[in-house]
Amino acid sequence: MISVALDGPAGAGKSTLAKRVAKHFNFIYVDTGALYRSIGLFTQRNNVASKDLTKVTELLPLIKLEMKYDNDGIQRMFLNGEDVTDDIRLPEVSTYASDVSAMLPVRDFLLSMQQNMAKKYNVIMDGRDIGTVVLPNADLKIFITASPETRAKRRFIELKEKDIDTTFEEVLSEMIKRDKNDSERDIAPLKAAEDAIILDTTNLDFEQSFEALCKLVSDIKW
Ligand code: DC
Repeated sequence: MISVALDGPAGAGKSTLAKRVAKHFNFIYVDTGALYRSIGLFTQRNNVASKDLTKVTELLPLIKLEMKYDNDGIQRMFLNGEDVTDDIRLPEVSTYASDVSAMLPVRDFLLSMQQNMAKKYNVIMDGRDIGTVVLPNADLKIFITASPETRAKRRFIELKEKDIDTTFEEVLSEMIKRDKNDSERDIAPLKAAEDAIILDTTNLDFEQSFEALCKLVSDIKW
């Protein structure tokens, strides 16, 4: 099986790019952020504070997560049998996801699920610690990044398209906060693996980034 690890901060374009690359090479696209978001959503729904390690840990045995794929290869996320694919994208869930993702029991809970996907399928897996922790032996590791302003602008446009009421300033400040949270945590912080290729998309448009990625995947020795 071939595995491509794609890590990087929020809004770097990982998911849009990875979806297209997966389609191009007929790989499965695994959005691991959706797993943390689902736990974040469950935490929020149960009125548990997102930083309460004990209570969040107690919730874990009550959670059953499944990733399913529709005919277009689009991942749908199921939380205890309910399709939460859209609910987990709400901005308030992002903070919950970021907070619970800093907890070791949460990361352990999700580790084998992610690794099993890579055992079964050719995958392009998008996350924060895929190249460093989840798939340290991935065939290719890419760390995608872009300036915070560029990332916030992309995320803002995405949210507007979904009619989610927010401002650019709000998105930018939330993004900077989340970057800090994700990269300064003790467990599996956001950082490029030593053997990752860094792809900075600040000055690249979507097609240019897509081509750069495809070239890297094509160069894998199959
Ligand atoms: O990629 P995303 O924005 O959907 O991720 C939501 C949160 O989950 C983000 O704050 C970081 C966390 N996350 C993580 O810690 N490890 C991953 N492999 C994926 C996401």
